[in-house]
Amino acid sequence: MVLVSGSGTNLQALLDAVAADPGGYGARIVAVGADRDSIAGLERAERAGLPTFVRRVKDHATRDEWDAALTEATAAYEPDLVVSAGFMKIVGKRFLARFGGRFINTHPALLPSFPGAHGVRDALAYGAKVTGCTVHFVDDGVDTGPVIAQGVVEVRDEDHEDGGVALHERIKDVERRLLVDVVGRLARHGYRIEGRKVTIQ
Ligand code: GRF
Repeated sequence: MVLVSGSGTNLQALLDAVAADPGGYGARIVAVGADRDSIAGLERAERAGLPTFVRRVKDHATRDEWDAALTEATAAYEPDLVVSAGFMKIVGKRFLARFGGRFINTHPALLPSFPGAHGVRDALAYGAKVTGCTVHFVDDGVDTGPVIAQGVVEVRDEDHEDGGVALHERIKDVERRLLVDVVGRLARHGYRIEGRKVTIQ
């Protein structure tokens, strides 16, 4: 199961990996969920013939009710793994209780540096010379869960001129490959989480 909020290029990379080698990749995508409609990520899922659902925060009286609705919609597909691939919402207690330990996220910075919604911009503003991406399990903090894998991207002097647009694209190139690799390995080999240590078996 993949959750998206935007363009869905990470989702597309996963779809392509499954399509290229359906048996060998080890994972298949059972459905795609989103917190908003009319986004390219959902179109990509529909084009691939996958079921989709949308649960918008504003359609629910409280954030807890949204969390319950998202949990229920996700649970209906009985996923082994839930992948937040550019899903820009913090899920609530109920979702974590149900999917904790099998819910992963991809973040466009080298955690624990630059967590939150502006990882690329914040790394650039800080003057970091290297940044990158992190695939990690989700816990109840913001981008604080156990790290599974990271990829490094160098910051170029000219990145300061476009506010990080080109830098984010270079990060996403690395991020897509990392996410595809991690999801395949988790699915094929299984894994253990001991405290902050993640071992793919
Ligand atoms: C990724 O860089 C992700 O880490 C960030 O938003 C981007 C999503 O890109 N939170 P896409 O929707 O997969 O193209």
